[in-house]
Amino acid sequence: MISCVIEQMNHFLTLLETSPEEIRHVLEVAAQLRQHRDEHGDADLLRGKTLAMYFEKPSLRTRVSFEQAMYELGGRAIVFGKQEVGLGVRETVADFTRVMNGMVDGIMARVYEHAWLEEMAEHAQVPIVNALSDHCHPCQALADIMTMQDDFGEDLSGRSLVFVGDGNNVARSLAAICAKLGIAFTLACPAGYELAGDYLATVRRVCPEAELRVFNDPRAAVEQTDAIYCDTFVSMGQEEEKKKRLRDFAGFQVNEDLLAAAQPETIVLHCLPAYRGVEITNAVMDGPASRVFGQSHNRLHAQKGLLAVLMGQA
Ligand code: CP
Ligand code: NVA
Repeated sequence: MISCVIEQMNHFLTLLETSPEEIRHVLEVAAQLRQHRDEHGDADLLRGKTLAMYFEKPSLRTRVSFEQAMYELGGRAIVFGKQEVGLGVRETVADFTRVMNGMVDGIMARVYEHAWLEEMAEHAQVPIVNALSDHCHPCQALADIMTMQDDFGEDLSGRSLVFVGDGNNVARSLAAICAKLGIAFTLACPAGYELAGDYLATVRRVCPEAELRVFNDPRAAVEQTDAIYCDTFVSMGQEEEKKKRLRDFAGFQVNEDLLAAAQPETIVLHCLPAYRGVEITNAVMDGPASRVFGQSHNRLHAQKGLLAVLMGQA
């Protein structure tokens, strides 16, 4: 049912190293697997394969979607955390990877330091998947695009997405995937919370045609967009900055007022977990524009597409 149209993808770290064709292929496989699941149940594309899953930070969606994805594809997952492995303390990232090379068929890791994922990739003979780092969250972006496709169709070129909030890991991956797929990306953030390290310039170097903008006025930013996206103002690891951040982000809440400044057909996305009443109100999150829970379910399908391509023959 699923044919291979691309050269084997090796790792999935930032999206910048993934071609538009590879991204489209993963999304296509994901959509086919979702349909197959609805009509026939599980598909055995990863029978006998094992994914190692390492977590330094908490997770609900990423943990469950990857583990369930492996199960539904006929494989299995082994989940472990910082406490057991002591990565970087009990042994080096390189040694961890060398050991895993001989035991499993893929490694996904959620870490603080993005450089750890790069180090894993350097020593890996199996695919490495970024399950979120301080730098970016590419797996989330796959599900986000899938969710936009559910509303607007497969070809999203010429569409637009406005991320209202912090120039964080999730925003970075959205900027990258939008650039790759011809979707205009806008970050609406308070001054000082733009994407660090002039990330948009990096994206532009990879995708010279990309439409990337930054606004400091969220109302002006959302006037003509297909999707409004939000995330917490305080990412994991930034807890000490919480007070200041909540002050600085006042005025960047996605609420009915902000939605009134957008087009009636604009949809609202959130990667979750949501701090209801902070970055998004109940009225918006539970209202007609929200696609938030379908988006969270698409994590499962997107992960299946990604794993089938990286670890299987899809
Ligand atoms: N959106 C997301 O990655 O959720 P978790 O942190 O719960 O995995
Ligand atoms: N930006 C958030 C995303 C959580 C899925 C964080 O890193 O905590």
